[in-house]
Amino acid sequence: MFQGQSIRVTRLPGDIAELCFDRSGDAINKFDTRTVNELREATEAVRRDGSVKGLLVTSAKDVFIVGADITEFGKNFASKEEDIASWSFEANKVFSGVEDLPFPSVTAINGFALGGGMEMALSTDYRVMAATAQVGQPEVKLGIIPGFGGTVRLPRLIGADNAIEWIAGGENVKADKALKDHAVDAVVAPDKLRDAALRMLQLALDGKADWQARRAQKKGPLKLGPMEAMMTFETAKGFIAGKAGKAYPAPVEAVKAMQKAAGKSRDDALKIEGQSFAKLAKTTVADALIGLFLNDQFLKKKAKQAQKIAKPMKQAAVLGAGIMGGGIAYQSASRGTPIIMKDIKDEQLALGMSEANKLLAKQVERGKLKPEKAGDVLSKIRATLNYGDFGGVDLIVEAVVENPKVKKSVLAEVEKLVRKDCIIATNTSSISIDLLSEAVERKENFLGMHFFNPVHKMPLVEVIWGKHTSKEAIATVAAYASAMGKTPIVVKNCPGFLVNRVLFPYFGGFMAAIRDGADFVKVDKVMEEFGWPMGPAYLQDVVGMDTSHHVGDVLAEGYPDRMGKTFRTALDVMYEAKRFGQKNGVGFYKYEVDPKGKPKKTADPASYELIKAVQPGGQKDMGDEEIIDRLMLPMVIETARCLEEGIVESVPEADMGLIMGIGFPPFRGGALKYADTVGLKTIVEKAAKYAALGKLYEPTAKMKEMAASGKKYYA
Ligand SMILES: NC(=O)c1ccc[n+]([C@@H]2O[C@H](COP(=O)([O-])OP(=O)(O)OC[C@H]3O[C@@H](n4cnc5c(N)ncnc54)[C@H](O)[C@@H]3O)[C@@H](O)[C@H]2O)c1
Repeated sequence: MFQGQSIRVTRLPGDIAELCFDRSGDAINKFDTRTVNELREATEAVRRDGSVKGLLVTSAKDVFIVGADITEFGKNFASKEEDIASWSFEANKVFSGVEDLPFPSVTAINGFALGGGMEMALSTDYRVMAATAQVGQPEVKLGIIPGFGGTVRLPRLIGADNAIEWIAGGENVKADKALKDHAVDAVVAPDKLRDAALRMLQLALDGKADWQARRAQKKGPLKLGPMEAMMTFETAKGFIAGKAGKAYPAPVEAVKAMQKAAGKSRDDALKIEGQSFAKLAKTTVADALIGLFLNDQFLKKKAKQAQKIAKPMKQAAVLGAGIMGGGIAYQSASRGTPIIMKDIKDEQLALGMSEANKLLAKQVERGKLKPEKAGDVLSKIRATLNYGDFGGVDLIVEAVVENPKVKKSVLAEVEKLVRKDCIIATNTSSISIDLLSEAVERKENFLGMHFFNPVHKMPLVEVIWGKHTSKEAIATVAAYASAMGKTPIVVKNCPGFLVNRVLFPYFGGFMAAIRDGADFVKVDKVMEEFGWPMGPAYLQDVVGMDTSHHVGDVLAEGYPDRMGKTFRTALDVMYEAKRFGQKNGVGFYKYEVDPKGKPKKTADPASYELIKAVQPGGQKDMGDEEIIDRLMLPMVIETARCLEEGIVESVPEADMGLIMGIGFPPFRGGALKYADTVGLKTIVEKAAKYAALGKLYEPTAKMKEMAASGKKYYA
């Protein structure tokens, strides 16, 4: 009856039309402009036919429809707000066209039906779902709200409370909950789905299921008295605003759209949805979050490429059972790669095993892991004091103490005991990969694998290649990181690698701000409002003043022109006073435990006293904008340098490295996205204002050229 590139309609016995999503040349179905247009034509073809009595909607892929084509958002959202709203309203007519067909309709949800996919299913009268499928409206994660009728049909179908949870939460929903909330009418085994959906349609055709009443429910106002509505929506707004945080407006906007449209019939309600959708589509937050999604896809593609050339990884080993070695062993084993954990001290091995045990026990306690699986994970870690089985190891991660001499001797020692093709990676946080490679013979097999602490929580792994590292070794380590559930970012060896090299100029800006009179508590507050999970003083306390001091020295030596020491800093005085931060209870702040046993941080008069010594002009009230610029500009400029020098290969990798490695505010999309949002011209102008503070504030020639010609990092 209809054949397009994404949709075909065929006639089934009993005058039933089957509208099947089957995007040509792709493994999945998604809603791009072409598919929406085809849906319009296909629906029209079914309507015009005149003989069709019922509609079955299906997918020929493993998924139903994964959502909208996010690669189209950039272009579509560049239009004016009114145009986006009317685009949404026009697209909605297509879905309403399906809903208004003069006969009953059923969707068979075989796999993911997310965003537009869920909204497609909502536009039919009934939904039958495979037990393995998942549904949901994840749009808020992209800083927008559903735009194909989700905020209208879902609350009318499952009630306002549930719809608020689904839409403002943005989580995927499994079949049992979807059924319980009445978002679907039946859940069946995947192989029974088609029959069950056809039976559902037959019930409607036989008058045994009142499809017209069901349809009327979706098209009328929300069934909620004014008082109830007020209570529901107002309470939800307060709760959701608190949970989402000020920086993320979409969840609250979704509730507002549902509230505003509650008393309206479908078409008026859809107009309200379109307006809210358009308003959010124009925000910098949506722009950044959509960019983040695309960056993530880009990284996944790169990871897949790495897997193609990676060598097989059956057995790993880690040297050192300390904080990092223990974490690496746990992570490897829990994701299925057996690992030998070698240390020189028995008590360290015991500590490493007990840490792994604790992490597993917690998961068992929470019902996330079966006890036998926990036992299985533990059995994949073999703690040892000797090199007995190293002949069978494919990859070694060295995580012994941060001392070049010790590391070199350990690396040289272990290389003699392993196969010639064994890859050796070091988890050093600050020593040059090329320097350490002097210790090994097979330099092509040697590189950095920089995990972050705590390993089980931090998503990033920097894969650092030195002068001699082979492509195969890089790919093998990247693939191992992916197999451990981490995101690898490939970085060229340089002092600080990517993450620390970019973080320390930000700390440098912070130190200069304190020297010039800023109050560290205020700086923390401003930067936390900017979106950082913790301000720079608090972050220094968490990292530890000794570690920071050491890495700072490495960077000062590596980049003396801009990171070299030119004044005594607050970090210096803290370090000298042995205020190491959280680890010994005092740093910029004082750390205590409140009567309820919760850790508490307070600004400590003693640290103010110390800071006085490095504030020659005394304290001054520094404005928010100045604080942000003084800290962010060095970070942006250093990120640009890393890109220009090929430390990272691409803009997305630089930005994702910062988001995952140091908690750069996701809604700002990374340092380069932030530069685009502020505008490179403005960045260069602002930097000129602080030129007297030194080279940290000097944009590169390329940045200036891009600023002059109006270029952006994200084209
Ligand atoms: N702790 C962090 O936050 C962090 C983050 C990223 C990277 N790193 C890096 O990871 C490495 C380890 O750091 P850590 O914090 O786990 O240190 P740690 O002191 O907790 O552990 C080091 C372990 O190495 C063992 N060891 C020493 N010599 C050894 C040898 N010859 N053979 C086997 N084991 C030996 C020690 O007994 C100890 O158990 C360092 O290079 C560090 O810079 C640390």
